[in-house]
Amino acid sequence: LENPLENAKRAASYRAVDENLKFKEHKVIGVGSGSTVVYIAERLGQYLKDPEYTEYVSKFVCIPTGFQSQDLILKNGLQLSSIEQHPKIDIAFDGADEVDVNMQLIKGGGACLFQEKLVSTSADIFIVVADSRKRSSKYLGEGWRQGVPIEVVPSAYVRVLHDLKEGLGAVSANIREGGKSKAGPVVTDNNNFIIDADFGEIENPYELHKQIKLLVGVVETGLFVDNAVKAYFGNPDGTVATMS
Ligand code: A5P
Repeated sequence: LENPLENAKRAASYRAVDENLKFKEHKVIGVGSGSTVVYIAERLGQYLKDPEYTEYVSKFVCIPTGFQSQDLILKNGLQLSSIEQHPKIDIAFDGADEVDVNMQLIKGGGACLFQEKLVSTSADIFIVVADSRKRSSKYLGEGWRQGVPIEVVPSAYVRVLHDLKEGLGAVSANIREGGKSKAGPVVTDNNNFIIDADFGEIENPYELHKQIKLLVGVVETGLFVDNAVKAYFGNPDGTVATMS
C-alpha cells in the first residue's frame, strides 16, 4: 500500500511541475534537495520519456543544490550542469521545512541550505513543494520544529554559538550531530558545519536573517525571505493546496 506522506509529496511535486514548467521557454531548471523534490526529478524524467516533450526536456540543463540533488538529476536521465555555467536559472523547485503565512521559509533540514539559497535566489521563478505538515499556522518557528539551520565555517562554531545565544537571544543553539550515521558534527557539501538555533516564533524573518548573517563565520542562514513565488502543499489523499 502507498505511504500517505509520499502520496502528499508526489501530488505537490507533480502539480508544481505541470502548472509551472514552460517547455518551450524554460531551459535552465534548478532542482532542490530533500525527500519531496525526488518527485520533481521523477516528473521531469517522465516528461523526458514522453515523445511529445522529449525534444524540449532533453535540452533542459538542470542545476543541482547538492550531492543528493545531482544524483536525482542523473538518475532520471536529465542533463546535469552547474551554477557557474548557468548563473541565471529560469525556474527552480525545492522543498521546505516550514512555510509561514507570508510564504517565508525555513530550509536546511537536509543541510543543503547554502547551495539551495544560491540556486533559488538565482531563479526567475522559485516554486516550493511540500506536504501540508510544513505549513505553519502563522509565523515560522512553531514549537515542535528544529529551529533555524545556519551554515558556519568550522573554526568559527564556538564563537557563532555564543553570539547566537548571548547576542541574538536564541533560546538554544546546537551543532548538528550525525547521530547514528556519524560520530561528531554533520559536514555539509561545502565542508562546513550546521547550527540549529531556536528563536521561538519569528515575526520578522528578514531582520533575523540579516542579524545572523552579520556574525563572523556564518556562511548562510536557512531563512528564505521574499524568495518563493508559489507554494504547493500536498495532502495524503492526493489533493493539493496552493499559496502565492
Ligand atoms: C535541505 O537542506 C532542505 O532545505 C530541504 O529542502 C527541506 O528540508 C525539505 O526536505 P523534505 O522535502 O525532505 O521535507
